[in-house]
Amino acid sequence: MTQTSSNQQRDILVTSALPYANGPIHLGHLLEYIQTDIWVRYQNMRGHNCYYVCADDAHGTAIMLRAEREGISSERLIDRIRTEHQEDFAGFHIRFDNYYTTHSTENRQFSEYIYRQLQENGHIATRKITQAFDPEKQMFLADRFIKGTCPKCKTEDQYGDNCEACGATYTPGELIDPRSAVSGATPIEKESEHYFFKLPEFADFLAKWTRSGTLQPQVANKLAEWLDAGLQEWDISRDAPYFGFEIPDAPGKYFYVWLDAPIGYLASFKNFCDREGVDFEHFWKADSTAEVYHFIGKDIINFHALFWPSMLHSAGFRTPSAVWSHGFVTVNGKKMSKSRGTFIMARTYLDHLNPEYLRYYFAAKLTGSVDDMDLNLEDFAARVNSDLVGKVVNIASRSAGFITKRFDGKLGKVTEHDKIREFVDAGRDIADYYESREFGRGMRRIMELADIANQYVNDEQPWVIAKQEGQEENLQAICTNAINMFHLLMTYLAPVLPETAKASEAFLNAKLDWNNRADRLEDHAINKFKPLMNRVDMAQIDKMLDASKEEMPAATGDQSAANKDAGSDTKDLEPLADEIDFDQFSKVDLRVARIVKAERVEGADKLLQLTLDIGHGERNVFAGIKSAYEPEDLTGRLTVMVANLKPRKMKFGVSEGMVLAAGPGGKDIHILSPDSGATPGMRVM
Ligand code: 2FM
Ligand code: ZN
Repeated sequence: MTQTSSNQQRDILVTSALPYANGPIHLGHLLEYIQTDIWVRYQNMRGHNCYYVCADDAHGTAIMLRAEREGISSERLIDRIRTEHQEDFAGFHIRFDNYYTTHSTENRQFSEYIYRQLQENGHIATRKITQAFDPEKQMFLADRFIKGTCPKCKTEDQYGDNCEACGATYTPGELIDPRSAVSGATPIEKESEHYFFKLPEFADFLAKWTRSGTLQPQVANKLAEWLDAGLQEWDISRDAPYFGFEIPDAPGKYFYVWLDAPIGYLASFKNFCDREGVDFEHFWKADSTAEVYHFIGKDIINFHALFWPSMLHSAGFRTPSAVWSHGFVTVNGKKMSKSRGTFIMARTYLDHLNPEYLRYYFAAKLTGSVDDMDLNLEDFAARVNSDLVGKVVNIASRSAGFITKRFDGKLGKVTEHDKIREFVDAGRDIADYYESREFGRGMRRIMELADIANQYVNDEQPWVIAKQEGQEENLQAICTNAINMFHLLMTYLAPVLPETAKASEAFLNAKLDWNNRADRLEDHAINKFKPLMNRVDMAQIDKMLDASKEEMPAATGDQSAANKDAGSDTKDLEPLADEIDFDQFSKVDLRVARIVKAERVEGADKLLQLTLDIGHGERNVFAGIKSAYEPEDLTGRLTVMVANLKPRKMKFGVSEGMVLAAGPGGKDIHILSPDSGATPGMRVM
């Protein structure tokens, strides 16, 4: 065997940011996990010891309040969301070595340990601060939990830190008629003691660390500006009620979610090491020779490049080898949007499209920089079809048939030595592109090779040769050359297309082995070719967009940071609606209805069509409850409907009213039923 790589085996630990356990994974998140997964798969293919860990970011006010709203414990909520996240990641072939939660014993221990180290080293201060407090709910309110009228443009119902209408930023104290978004009560000011991490004491350390090749140049420049402007102490405590870890010797005070979130990287890895017998210390001791990389979005750089290295440094751990940031995802050139259907959940995508299409598209457009990434859906279809289906898979499908039919599945000898050598040598550049996260350049180089391979087949015309007498050996050689080229192309694409890689190995009856890629497939039996990938059809994409429009997950909407469920401190909280008077309420005619018929709707992913008897005849209603109910289970049940809602024309027909249901979405939808004794047509008051 020829070992083309002279690299030493490296020990590498890689992480992606920990997603909040309060909402579903969407395409904005996926850019990062796909980017990281490709990098990790590449390293493992090269024979390095590369581990990839992640976890759900489980703490904070938003999660606590959502659990409360759903009437379940925070623990139950985060367990459920973690399962959903893991299913979504698995669907996109994201291969974690460990997927844990920050609400774990390991994380509590590390958080306490690091905090005590900071304290011993004199880096913790305490002082009283005054904050908005909800007197009804008895809790302090972060800015995002206060709503009111914008002091500048007077638009009502704006969040406590900025106005979505005029863009003004202000403090909650400046809002006109401020209200708690949790209870609706008017907030009062209240004092309480907070714990601070004395970040300014790390200014010199950070100036060095951020300039030592740990960050992309653009990011290092940004940090230099922040450092020049002077660092602030960081408030790391939150008062009860809070879902998180209580601070040692500080009853009623909890670690702010952002303190224990990055420590979750350590905790997830520790949990993995204990299970698999891997040496944790080797990776995390101060003078470790192992490498540690964090992949993150550009919005959370301050946490990863200021607080996190400082905490690690003070507590006697090594600091990350590098923190790599990426930009945000836009769809068709715009911020992801619910109304356009471009706020696409991982699950919705998977219901309609092959995950490898997205992996490839992201790879083809990724650079090592923090630039934003546009997912243009027409370009997406065109690239996948032309590059993967039209170029790569095509090479195999054009040559495999002859090998199977004419040569009993056996390859002959390679004759195009120069071309094959060019393919093998290109692996060095492609390796560099993977290493430096310049995946787009890597994909372009791979497609140049695919063009060479196709040109070769076009020139040699095996389908013509196949009809000529005495050309057996020539035909077998042409197909053998082409299959060897395909073998190399798939080797290079394997980090991006893990499933197609697996199917290709089955077809080639050979491993895709990067380091031994110079080994040729000669006098070697291959298997019958089966189509490796289908074309994307714009119709599938349109269906996905329609399904996204129908979707109503609790924690997502058109958001300012389209890539996030934005903060454990906010967002998925559904604020109380504005007050209405009794007259307004009495205009809503709620009636008991019997579900006479419930049917699936052809082409609709979320809707059931209900025929409802409301005493005064029947109504046709489309309800977005398909994810939670089998139609059969609904027939005959009583429920409550809004009977005087103006009929609405929907995609699948006219809906004549609305059925009342509770819950965030998915399986967690519950239609309301009256107590026994009610009959269809009764007015509900
Ligand atoms: O911004 C976010 O979505 C956070 N949940 C990321 C945490 S990353 C790490 F620090 F835990
Ligand atoms: Zn305003």
